[in-house]
Amino acid sequence: MTYDIELFRAQFPALATGTAFFDGPGGTQTPRPVIEAMAHALAGPLSNRGHGNPAERNAETIVAEARHALGDLLGADPSGVVFGRSATQLAYDFSRTLAKSWSPGDEVVVTRLDHDSNIRPWVQAAEQAGATVRWAGFDPDDGELRAEAIAEVLSPRTRLVAVTGASNLIGTRPPVPEIARLVHEAGALLYVDGVHLTAHSLVDLDELGADFYACSPYKFLGPHMGVLAARPQLLETLAPDKLLPSTDAVPERFEYGTLPYEMLAGARAAVDVLAAPGAHPERDRREQLVAAFELLGKHEESLRSRIEDGLAGLPAVRVHSRAAVRTPTLLLTLDGRETRDAAHHLAQRGVNAPSGSFYALEASRHLGLGDDGGLRVGLAPYSNTEDVDRLLEGLADFLR
Ligand SMILES: Cc1ncc(COP(=O)(O)O)c(C=O)c1O
Repeated sequence: MTYDIELFRAQFPALATGTAFFDGPGGTQTPRPVIEAMAHALAGPLSNRGHGNPAERNAETIVAEARHALGDLLGADPSGVVFGRSATQLAYDFSRTLAKSWSPGDEVVVTRLDHDSNIRPWVQAAEQAGATVRWAGFDPDDGELRAEAIAEVLSPRTRLVAVTGASNLIGTRPPVPEIARLVHEAGALLYVDGVHLTAHSLVDLDELGADFYACSPYKFLGPHMGVLAARPQLLETLAPDKLLPSTDAVPERFEYGTLPYEMLAGARAAVDVLAAPGAHPERDRREQLVAAFELLGKHEESLRSRIEDGLAGLPAVRVHSRAAVRTPTLLLTLDGRETRDAAHHLAQRGVNAPSGSFYALEASRHLGLGDDGGLRVGLAPYSNTEDVDRLLEGLADFLR
């Protein structure tokens, strides 16, 4: 089976603009089935969840189907799938809930590699609880965040470790299963930011060893919302602040107010679009996803090599994405030239590859790039060789 990239691309109205999108790590383009699923949900009939009439039942079905789809995508129990507005909001909510049991002397570990949304909520929650924050670094030369860096800052007082599944700035994928073993040996919980990883790799909550795993469907062809997966048994032990009349059931206990049903319908459709290249009558959706992500991985790998080979011929380009295991997301700086000017030059040629530190502020500083970061080139499931060649030509033209 091969990945039919042109068939895949035909689903995206935005690709008809002729733009080459390398800004997927900031948010992917939306395929028609997702747009249609959202419109269909709103066309209804649709009202609050319940079983009394078709409108209520539609809302129930949408929520159940979305939990099931995200469970398939994340290798998680659908009853442990929590929906929220964004991964940032979920990190704030869960940090507040977990911090209720922290006290002075307790420790929380964050990393220099993470997006700020998996750092600041923990730092601030720790400060409010009087707990101590311990920082794990990464190697700025090779971009690796090694398990030893986490081991060094673990102690019997560690309550929680927050680590990224993949860096949205340089693509590094830390060895999460190994980190999880260390964290659990220390008696702590592991919160994994999977926002960047989920677009590129099919995860399994248990294999990863994450206690909490957060992601954002708008990074993998879906709508703008956040998702968190955890074992329902763990969620049962947590007591978030909540309204008096709202249900205490898991996972609803963690979902504030009315769920955005149209977004949930879109998220379910996004999982189906991701699974489609692996479609086979004898496979369930998880098995289709396994097959599809294998094809996607090969596709993205070949495009990444094409970019890297092309960049090797441009002497002014420095590539900061060097970890042995990483996503196809490259951070570049250009000797003697501003990357924001390069981004502008590319945009004028219909190539979207923005410049910045993309909220991975600590990582950008740790790499010696200050708050400016660099030019980020991220592949998405719809990227093709023509996009890559246009990017390389645009960069060569800028540097000429
Ligand atoms: C790695 C990573 N974590 C977290 C976030 C924040 O996600 P959200 O916009 O859903 O809050 C982003 C967004 O760019 C990200 O790339």
